[in-house]
Amino acid sequence: MSDPYVGSAEYLDLLIAGFWEAAGPEVASVLAELPPGPGPVVDLGAGSGRGVRVLGEAVPGAPVLAVEPSAVMRAALMPRILDDPGLRDRVTVLPGGALDEALPEGVRAVLALNMLGHLAGPERRELLERVLRSLVPGGVLVTNLAPPFAPVAVPRVLMARTEVGELVYEGYASAEPSGVDGLLWRMEYRTLRGDAEISAATVEYPWCVCSEEELAAEATGLGFGVRRVGDPALGLHVLGRPSAGAGPLA
Ligand SMILES: C[S@@+](CC[C@H](N)C(=O)[O-])C[C@H]1O[C@@H](n2cnc3c(N)ncnc32)[C@H](O)[C@@H]1O
Repeated sequence: MSDPYVGSAEYLDLLIAGFWEAAGPEVASVLAELPPGPGPVVDLGAGSGRGVRVLGEAVPGAPVLAVEPSAVMRAALMPRILDDPGLRDRVTVLPGGALDEALPEGVRAVLALNMLGHLAGPERRELLERVLRSLVPGGVLVTNLAPPFAPVAVPRVLMARTEVGELVYEGYASAEPSGVDGLLWRMEYRTLRGDAEISAATVEYPWCVCSEEELAAEATGLGFGVRRVGDPALGLHVLGRPSAGAGPLA
C-alpha cells in the first residue's frame, strides 16, 4: 500500500509541534505516576519522535520501543534519537505497524497519539486487548481522539501554521465520509514566502472515527479504567490497567 506520509513528511513535524507543546506536559505528568520498575515504554506510530522524547525524559532509564511503519517518518525519527545521548542507547525503532509486532511483556506505558484512526475498528479493539495484556498493573495506554467522532464531511480548515526562518508553513484539512465509520482526510500543505506559495503538497488518507463513548465502552469492557486528562481540546485519554488488587481483568 502506498504511504501517504511520503507527501506529508516534510510538514508533519513542523505542524504537529503545537499539539506537543500543549499535550507534552500532560502526557509527562501521566507518565510521572507510572509504577516503578524496569519495564519498557512504547510509542506506537512514533512519527518524528516527539512522543519518544517525552517518554525518554519522563521515564528516565526505561527502554523505549518506537514502532513506526513509514520509512519517511523513520527518517525524521532517527536523527531525533541519534543526536540525543539520553535516547540513542535505549530507543529501539521497529519498522512496522502497531499490530505487526508482539508487544514486550511488563510494559509500563504505551503512547498511541494522533494515530488511532489509522486502525480499522476491529484492529483498534485488537490493539487495546494486546496492550492491556502487555501492561503491568498500574500501567497506561495514552491515546487521543479528535473530531469528528462520526463519518461526516469536514469543511476545509487551517489546522496549523508555523514560521521557520523566512518561510511560513501551513496545513489545511478537510474530509469526506467513507463507509460506516470512516473518513477520507485530505491534507493540503503550503510553503509560503510572503504571499507567494513556493511549494505545496496534497495527501489523502483513510481514517477510522471513534467516539469517546465507543472508546470508553471498548476499553472498560476489556478491563481498563478510562479517564480524560488535560484540555478537552487535546482529546487525551488515559486507559489504565488496574493496579494489583483492584479487581480482576475482564
Ligand atoms: C499523524 S502521525 C503522528 C505521529 C506521532 N504519534 C505524533 O503524535 O507526533 C501518525 C503516525 O502513525 C503512523 N501509522 C500509520 N499507520 C500505522 C499503524 N498501523 N501502526 C502504527 N503507526 C501507524 C504513521 O506512519 C505516522 O507516523
